[in-house]
Amino acid sequence: MNVIAVKDLKKYYGTTKAVDGVSFEVPQGQVVALLGPNGAGKTTTIEIIEGLRKKDEGEIYYFGKKVDEVDKNVKVQIGVQLQKSAFFDYLTVYETIELFAGLYNVQAKKKDIEKLIDLVALGEKAKSKVKNLSGGQLQRLALAVALVNDPKILFLDEPTTGLDPQARRHVWQIIGELKEKGKTIVLTTHYMEEAEKLADKVFIMDHGKIIASGTVQELIKLIKMDSYIEFSSDSPQVLLKEISNLRMTNHERLILPTFDVEESIHMLLNKAKQLKVNIDNVIIRRPNLEDVFLNLTGRSLRD
Ligand SMILES: Nc1ncnc2c1ncn2[C@@H]1O[C@H](COP(=O)(O)OP(=O)(O)O)[C@@H](O)[C@H]1O
Ligand SMILES: [Mg+2]
Repeated sequence: MNVIAVKDLKKYYGTTKAVDGVSFEVPQGQVVALLGPNGAGKTTTIEIIEGLRKKDEGEIYYFGKKVDEVDKNVKVQIGVQLQKSAFFDYLTVYETIELFAGLYNVQAKKKDIEKLIDLVALGEKAKSKVKNLSGGQLQRLALAVALVNDPKILFLDEPTTGLDPQARRHVWQIIGELKEKGKTIVLTTHYMEEAEKLADKVFIMDHGKIIASGTVQELIKLIKMDSYIEFSSDSPQVLLKEISNLRMTNHERLILPTFDVEESIHMLLNKAKQLKVNIDNVIIRRPNLEDVFLNLTGRSLRD
């Protein structure tokens, strides 16, 4: 069953088509990711579904029923982690959750709050003030707050943006546990690793539109390439002129798609020698979601 469905959602800000005809479904118990670069329209899309912004056009369905306005009946079933969470610096972790429970009109007992704190692995920080939390701890507190009304559906807007890799993996682990508990999760991200790691289904967004969708495997299959040879060079422009299907990422890495790694490596090394340019830091890898995005748009997910 689909917990959420949206059809042809539109939201324009003046001439900016923030959301420009977006349709997708969220099956029960799954993690669905909206993956796209900054400005793609991810936040606008989910905030309309959460009832935080008004749509211009389109339809929203919760549990198969069309909702004209995302009202209280819907809101009691959803939990929202905003892209930027504002908490009170001088409240503790415990007090913050207690405060939000009050705002949601939830009768939170001490043990409920403690359970929530354990769930997001903030046990040792329960009595710490918000202002003393790290970025990762703040994101986990935001998760706890989103869970305070024990929602069936959880919206996470860029849950790991700005976190270091270790803190990011920690948040991923908790999101995985929430999925195992049966929560349906809609998340936005511009990290392809996040979508690859967590999502049952990925909707790739760009310029207000969904440009591709499917499981990670299905999306990667869109790339009809076997492998990529990725490397750096001191003279990328020289190589780009000489090798037709070579291209450069926003991060100054060169990528050569290939069906025959051995032959391509040979060709590459010969060219480099012949042109007297240096090739360094070579890796051979399978296509990933970043390549899918690059193939579809000619740009990288991150700039
Ligand atoms: N309140 C707003 N007023 C004007 N333009 C907005 C507003 N919110 C978003 N936009 C614009 O809409 C586009 C999509 O933004 P957003 O939904 O935040 O994208 P994302 O979350 O994918 O980064 C961007 O071009 C952004 O500048
Ligand atoms: Mg956003």
